[in-house]
Amino acid sequence: MNFPEYRPRRLRKNDLFRRLIRETRLSVDSFIFPLFATVGKGVKKPIDSMPGHFQLSVELLVKEVQECRELGIPAVLLFGIPERKDEAASGAFARDGIVQQAVRRIKDKVPDILVVTDVCLCEYTDHGHCGMIEKGEVHNDMTLEVLAETAVSHAKAGADMVAPSAMMDGQVGAIREGLDEAGFETVPILAYSAKYASCFYGPFREAAESASRFGDRKAYQMDPANSDEAVREMNLDVQEGADILMVKPALPYLDVIRRAKEEFDLPVAAYNVSGEFAMIKAAARLGWIDEEKAMMESLTAIRRAGADIILTYFAREAAKVLQR
Ligand code: PBG
Repeated sequence: MNFPEYRPRRLRKNDLFRRLIRETRLSVDSFIFPLFATVGKGVKKPIDSMPGHFQLSVELLVKEVQECRELGIPAVLLFGIPERKDEAASGAFARDGIVQQAVRRIKDKVPDILVVTDVCLCEYTDHGHCGMIEKGEVHNDMTLEVLAETAVSHAKAGADMVAPSAMMDGQVGAIREGLDEAGFETVPILAYSAKYASCFYGPFREAAESASRFGDRKAYQMDPANSDEAVREMNLDVQEGADILMVKPALPYLDVIRRAKEEFDLPVAAYNVSGEFAMIKAAARLGWIDEEKAMMESLTAIRRAGADIILTYFAREAAKVLQR
């Protein structure tokens, strides 16, 4: 018998062979760690559905950023929980808004880590939608101006990169124009290009206190059933001046990440969102899954699909595993 002729198992025989032919390698270099800034002093408020994550007041946030830097994580992503929310989302672009304060303090104390800011209004509006409301609906073009103003205020505070996530049409172009006019033509845009109307953001909305008071986000975030539409969204963002394209969430959308990688020549980011994190944490707590292995396998799969960059709440834990 001379069958089977080719035996894939020959190269799986031991770890040395496996290392030799490994196609995807995880590295701390591709991680961005999200953090939640809140007002006050000495505040460290746990987020129940995201074990190990907290709303942090600025001085405690700086400590976490310091730890990220020591682990070799190249960038953090900031979200803000303002003191007051209002109809105009005024906390989003206030000179002394929570994110603006946090950015200034981080750049002052930990200069050698990139600070990326999420540019959206849902954390700042009293209704919790990502844009300005007109006649009961999110008004696209009114929102563009506020998003541009918000991005410029982040850049003024020292943000290294801005990440618009509101899913308004034209947001990348409006922000690019705003940044350029304000003299920030070298500040790049990490565009949440293909952001789906996903239930996997559930824990985040607890973390950022940003659940919408009425309706849902389906009139601006994408339908989970669509993939060609993601390519259209990414094309628009490329034309409008995006520097990095993002797909979000990550694990349920690996096929979209792959298309982003194959059809565009910009760096691709994937957001391993709060619900993806919470699922692994919850199953591990119940003893139903090996947490560390599930984390590393998930992150490897996201890289294998084509993501150059992964935004993940696991960044610190994974960085520690990679150091061993
Ligand atoms: C802001 C924003 C959201 C997330 C990132 N930016 C929430 C949303 O769109 O409802 C979700 C991140 C996560 O779930 O980890 N619009």
